[in-house]
Amino acid sequence: MLEIHKFSKIIAANWKMNGSIKFIDNFIDQLNLKNNHNKFVCTIICPPFIYSQHVSKQSDNFYLGGQDCSLFQEGSYTGDISASMLNNIGCQFCIVGHSERREKFNETDDKVAIKASNSLKNNIHPIVCVGETLAQKKNNQTKEVLAKQIRKSIPKNSNNKNTIIAYEPVWAIGTGLTPSLEEINDIHNFIKNEIQDYENFQTLYGGSVKSTNSKEIMKINSVDGVLVGGSSLDIMEFNKILSS
Ligand code: PGA
Repeated sequence: MLEIHKFSKIIAANWKMNGSIKFIDNFIDQLNLKNNHNKFVCTIICPPFIYSQHVSKQSDNFYLGGQDCSLFQEGSYTGDISASMLNNIGCQFCIVGHSERREKFNETDDKVAIKASNSLKNNIHPIVCVGETLAQKKNNQTKEVLAKQIRKSIPKNSNNKNTIIAYEPVWAIGTGLTPSLEEINDIHNFIKNEIQDYENFQTLYGGSVKSTNSKEIMKINSVDGVLVGGSSLDIMEFNKILSS
């Protein structure tokens, strides 16, 4: 597995269920990793499964990630993609427990932990997503919710060298809203230092990251990188984020 602590920043693109062969060819053609002077920046592209190989064939300047993986190893699970299949096509990262999957596909913390564990067993770094809803934020439950999600979604075979945590407030995803820089710093410090047995995990921020805020967000010491949704679908925007 990669030594993820050695990267100075991690920038992951989550394309969700978007894209096409034409989109990918244009994206890769224009992808500019050169502005990214520091060779220790880790760029990860997470396309829809069906396009993973097409994406990975085009360049080896970035890492390939899955957006999810199966709870199961293999067998009669129509439609599922296992972590070992992801490993087989060169994925080194896999997003698990994204709030869209938690909400729309009924993924519980327990299921997320199994998926993260399956990823690790197949030499894939899980990117475990956690985040509070707006109602939870308004009730001042953010830290309590995050601590519970982290304790329950991070499996026993995880440690701070093989697993990444993505803090994605549900209310910030795709809305154009973000917490303040102070709030992001406070939450990242909380995740890194205050949850016993889960200290010092690499922690990404996700939720309405764009070229106009990425620089400020990535400057925060406690932030190890960003997980970008919508803005990763616009190559000009994504190039700006990469160079920020
Ligand atoms: P967004 O999505 O950047 O479009 O807010 C982030 C994510 O869902 O990972």
